Amino acid sequence: MRPKVFVTRRLPSKALEELILHVDAELWDHETPPPYETLIEKINKKDGLLCLLTDRIDAQLMEVGSELKVVSQIAVGYDNIDVVEATRRGIRVGNTPGVLTDATADFTFALLMAAARRIGEGIDYVKRGNWETWGLTTLLGQDVYGATLGIVGFGRIGQAVARRAQGFNMEILYYDRERKVDAERRFGAKFRALDDLLREADYISLHVALNKDTHGLIGSRELGLMKSNAILINTARGPVVDGEALYAALKHRSIACAALDVTDPEPLPADDKLLSLENMIIVPHIASATVSSRTQMCMMAIQNLVAGVNDEPLPYPVN
Ligand code: DGY
Repeated sequence: MRPKVFVTRRLPSKALEELILHVDAELWDHETPPPYETLIEKINKKDGLLCLLTDRIDAQLMEVGSELKVVSQIAVGYDNIDVVEATRRGIRVGNTPGVLTDATADFTFALLMAAARRIGEGIDYVKRGNWETWGLTTLLGQDVYGATLGIVGFGRIGQAVARRAQGFNMEILYYDRERKVDAERRFGAKFRALDDLLREADYISLHVALNKDTHGLIGSRELGLMKSNAILINTARGPVVDGEALYAALKHRSIACAALDVTDPEPLPADDKLLSLENMIIVPHIASATVSSRTQMCMMAIQNLVAGVNDEPLPYPVN
């Protein structure tokens, strides 16, 4: 008997071809996630689940999926999965670290540059027919080269952002739960307490996992510590930033701008008031969206899935 798995999204063809070599796969063959009720229905009698960060994998689901051996997430973040419950039940959980680090760091820098130099506003300006002449004060932005970057969360992605910042001769500050002395040396980065980093940095880039300690990490108090020219970049998870507080800070220009790849909720409704702000860039959670990165994420997740359904340790385990 081949192991039975449920897959919560349409897969790239290369990934699907690989998957069906190893398992009997039932697919939710859509671009949008299955409703939770469907997920519950489909998980019954499955040995494995290949899922995305949009799927809620909780205790109830694991109760129904009592034969589940492995939950394999196609993402590095796994805040949608109740890992404690999975571990308690002996269900292996896997993720896809590493292969999206550079794509995400590149994109973080793209957002930083776009916000600093007002690229989105420039595109709109031309499209709306406002471009009448070369203006001395048209769409003035702020310097990136030589500015101070504050990196919150100095793991793989945070450090990859630091590597890019070196090329821009930036002063690199970081905050993490613990000091990373080797990385400090490698990137010429300086450790700061979070409040100090927020006070000193021109650009603040978030790279923490979402958990109970980081939920709402950046609220009105923290935004109030930032400089008036500060630009906040979030490619981590939406709930790390308090959306109401961010709206107020941007509306009253107590900080200059924010550039978000992630929001709370996702997707962000088109009438959300954050979208009414000129000093805001929001894109739809695409920091890892390169062909190579997404393909590798799928392949790693399939390796985890196949190992798990065969009762073997996962190559990229979470628990
Ligand atoms: C992740 O993997 O956690 C990213 O947010 C999506 O690529």
